[in-house]
Amino acid sequence: MSRILIFTGKGGVGKTSVAAAHARHSSLEGKKTLIVSTDMAHNLSDIFGVSLGKTICRVEENLFALEIDPNHMMENEFGDMKDALIQMIKSSGAPISNVDHLSIFPGVDELFSLLKILEIYEAGDFERIIVDCAPTGETIALLKIPELLSWYMEKFLPVGKVALRVLAPISKAAFKIELPNKAAISDVERMFLKLEALQALFKNREVTSIRIVAIPEKMVVEETKRNYMYMNLYNFQVDGLYINRILPSDIDNPFFNEWIEIQHQYIEEYEMIFGEIPIYKIPWFDRDLNGLVGIDLIVKEVLKTRDVFGVIKDIQGETYEKVKGGYILKLNLPCVEKADVKLHESLTDIIIKIGNFKRNIPKPSTLRNHEIANAKFDEGILTITLLEK
Ligand SMILES: Nc1ncnc2c1ncn2[C@@H]1O[C@H](COP(=O)(O)OP(=O)(O)O)[C@@H](O)[C@H]1O
Ligand SMILES: [Mg+2]
Repeated sequence: MSRILIFTGKGGVGKTSVAAAHARHSSLEGKKTLIVSTDMAHNLSDIFGVSLGKTICRVEENLFALEIDPNHMMENEFGDMKDALIQMIKSSGAPISNVDHLSIFPGVDELFSLLKILEIYEAGDFERIIVDCAPTGETIALLKIPELLSWYMEKFLPVGKVALRVLAPISKAAFKIELPNKAAISDVERMFLKLEALQALFKNREVTSIRIVAIPEKMVVEETKRNYMYMNLYNFQVDGLYINRILPSDIDNPFFNEWIEIQHQYIEEYEMIFGEIPIYKIPWFDRDLNGLVGIDLIVKEVLKTRDVFGVIKDIQGETYEKVKGGYILKLNLPCVEKADVKLHESLTDIIIKIGNFKRNIPKPSTLRNHEIANAKFDEGILTITLLEK
């Protein structure tokens, strides 16, 4: 099975360098590898010393690269889906006036980059796909969109259960929404299925790994914690942290002593937060990494001696456990204060709110006649007991 590694983190911490080093390492292992950048500020071509076009380009023997222009992707490759999405939003009666341009929804352009990655994965040409993402905030928006959309669509357009076309006249009455015409429905349906597939792919722990890149600095520690927490909230598998730009401890210059000590404290904090998750420490090199020679320093000094592409089995995501009279749902929510977690329930969903983020976990159909009996939050784990009504 192919692997997808997604690199995320705050701007400037070294995502592109670390992602490129993985791609290079992978190709040197003889695996056919693709590195994809979804960040508009592309610099893969600088690193690999080749010019990259709008299609997949060969960089070396087993190494290929693609710099995605999300806008081009949306307008050209997924034009019909874009139209379907606009149609769908309009038909929902949402009080949004200027839907004709989807860019009013942050992160939507990037969604089409992700759909491209799905397409590439499904074509099966590569053993490993390395994704160099846009900075954190955008990535989070990006990763939660498929879930939000498919939640929304499941509510209004229950494809899969009954054919959509059959349902259309009923839905109109039941939900008081104008469903799109037949042609558009099939586009909407296609889009829905794609988003489902996208979400399933990114949550498949045997395929997709999320890797967070950070540096030992206060501002970055905070953002990294948030990033990690949201990844867990949405049940993506984070199975690697890269702490970049670590000062060598043997610098013979008193100016650095304090900096080394400060870095040391933040590194310890990362180690505490990430616990069992593999941590890779990358030194601050005495040169820029913008080129193969620089990237190879990371390969040689950090990646070569570890199994960086293996699937890690024992990191727990959310789990359901059968108990007498119902089920227990457990979610891993590190870096969260108990007071910040708000829990609600509807007939069909469990709704978890943390700050500005909300996740609807649709109750599996066997649990539709269950309700939350109690919930507790302890040491970063939210435990919800669902009992039959
Ligand atoms: N460990 C390091 N030592 C020296 N320079 C580094 C290191 N990591 C990154 N850099 C340099 O820092 C800059 C930003 O790195 P980059 O990988 O482009 O970050 P991002 O993709 O997160 O914005 C680049 O010029 C890169 O060469
Ligand atoms: Mg970058």
